Amino acid sequence: MLSNLQPQAPDSILKLIEEFKADTRQGKIDLGVGVYKDPQGVTPVMRAVKAAEQRIWETQTTKAYTGLAGEPDYRDAMARMVLKDVPADRLASLATVGGTGAIRQALELARLANPGVTVHVSNPTWPNHLSIMKFMGLPFVEYRYFDAATRGVDFDGLKADIARAGKGDIVLLHGCCHNPTGANLSMDQWNEVAAILGKSGAIPLIDLAYQGFGDGLEEDAAATRMIAGRLPEVLIAASCSKNFGIYRERTGILFALAENTAARDLAQGSMAYLNRQTYSFPPDHGARIVSTILSDNALRADWAAELEEVRGTMLGLRAQLASELRDLSGSGRFDFVERHRGMFSRLGATPEQVQRLKSDAAIYMVGDSRLNIAGLNRHTVPILARAIIDAGI
Ligand code: LMR
Repeated sequence: MLSNLQPQAPDSILKLIEEFKADTRQGKIDLGVGVYKDPQGVTPVMRAVKAAEQRIWETQTTKAYTGLAGEPDYRDAMARMVLKDVPADRLASLATVGGTGAIRQALELARLANPGVTVHVSNPTWPNHLSIMKFMGLPFVEYRYFDAATRGVDFDGLKADIARAGKGDIVLLHGCCHNPTGANLSMDQWNEVAAILGKSGAIPLIDLAYQGFGDGLEEDAAATRMIAGRLPEVLIAASCSKNFGIYRERTGILFALAENTAARDLAQGSMAYLNRQTYSFPPDHGARIVSTILSDNALRADWAAELEEVRGTMLGLRAQLASELRDLSGSGRFDFVERHRGMFSRLGATPEQVQRLKSDAAIYMVGDSRLNIAGLNRHTVPILARAIIDAGI
């Protein structure tokens, strides 16, 4: 049986990790997978996470199963963090295996509710969005998003394309820090998106994987909150991997905002059912870290402060890279790096140029020229800038 299997194409992002490890050159630079690294090149365990883990270790009395939908204290704390004003009578929630698990369960839920659903995704989007939908056999179409000339958002294209989504279709949006481009909508543009979806009855699925990495914890949730305040049905897939730095704990959550309490109850039941069919109970350790931090004023303040340090470091690196490139190119054509937000920027380089960066300068980025800003430090920024110019980008 097993010999009938077909080889699977490797994930374009994860493949880079292996290639990077195998490269023996001194001074190689990894700008591939979206993981934060501090100036020493370490992905640290955040201070509040360590403190919360110690508290859990000291006080936890059982490892018996959690609820199918996860622990209510985690779901409530996350609802407040993401939505602030929580419409509890309309909100269903589900602890999931990371943000990817939340996306998967959201798509499963959409298909359960509407077997004819089509998903509309930005071009480009996180490659795993496409991979999951292909695997599920879910029909999807792309909407225009990235303007290659300005490295900003092609908003007219986006509006025209998402207006084609029909009632009950899903429009997958990145709540902040668009992955892979780093180009984001303004609040006015988000309002226009909400109006289009309100008119058509298409349902937003907001992927919120980087809250706190763009303009701030509250600012990065503003679009999601506005959409949740305006539309009757909204799905939100949030991840704690990046903003709590607990990547390997696989801590995510799916929210389903329903039209009314009866629909909320139906959604809640179906979501718990989906967990049961996929992995039964969601993991609890990461969720418990998050709820411990969010429910304690001192821990929360320390976590928020460290998250701000991380965000500030990334903004500093963006400014430095844009400035180095301005000097080297004698132009402002790379200033978009400073305007982009989140972990990533899409440079707009060709696959050949990306390959040249790898072979000539041992700099690794995703083939579509997505670079992880958080993989840089102030010493490697000038090296990258020089290599970008030398590669003819
Ligand atoms: C990324 O986009 O690099 C991250 O979200 C990690 C991943 O799983 O792809």
